[in-house]
Amino acid sequence: MRIIRAKDYSDMSRKAANILSAQVIMQPDAVLGCATGGTPVGIYRQLIEWYQRGDLDFSEVTTVNLDEYRGISRESEQSYWHFMHSNFFDHVNIAPERIHLPEGSNLNAQEVCRAYTEMIRSVGGIDLQLLGIGTDGHIGFNEPNTVFEMDTHCVDLTESTVEANKRFFARKEDVPRQAYTMGIRDIMQARRVLMVASGADKAKIVRQAFFGPVTPAVPASILQIHPDFTLIVDQEAAAEI
Ligand code: F6R
Repeated sequence: MRIIRAKDYSDMSRKAANILSAQVIMQPDAVLGCATGGTPVGIYRQLIEWYQRGDLDFSEVTTVNLDEYRGISRESEQSYWHFMHSNFFDHVNIAPERIHLPEGSNLNAQEVCRAYTEMIRSVGGIDLQLLGIGTDGHIGFNEPNTVFEMDTHCVDLTESTVEANKRFFARKEDVPRQAYTMGIRDIMQARRVLMVASGADKAKIVRQAFFGPVTPAVPASILQIHPDFTLIVDQEAAAEI
């Protein structure tokens, strides 16, 4: 585990964008695991800027997103499909057929999850997985549990996740209660994992996840044993380590 301390949000974003862009430059057909949420927005903004300057080319890149709400269509503004397109994909030259997110509008969980697991295999696995961390220690939507769920699966969102994500919806009641998420094995099999954490509300969980025991009660803690895991924290998120 490698920890990189950044000054603030924009420093964290630039450092993470540097790692992602180095991956794409060294391996133009890389499979990038993408995350949504507030934290990676600055990274995507930076990558778009470098793409617009002509420094990056995503034409051969494949993307695999961590998760999607269940029962939400791609067209919905709250879908992760929409988030990824408006914050990143629509602004760079990623080929639409190489973009992958779980099919949120399909309520047949078994079918969606099986297809996603198969797709990850068919693209040869993930070269670099970007992650945020939930205040409860979730990665993707792998919520605190008594076991590590391995493959892509359907989850009931915890109250704290619904609470944290309501800022993206008009009303808390509109936040879907279930989601499809890549499992812990999918994430751990990524060849490299890069996590970003920013802000004071992440300080406690950063300490628990990376300086406490490895336990499914804090899903991110398993990254301690990943062979190539980098955590970039800004000063506020690093306050307790
Ligand atoms: C989103 C995801 C989540 C977020 C986490 C942190 O695809 O996988 O695990 O990374 O909820 O979200 P923010 O960045 O909004 O604090």
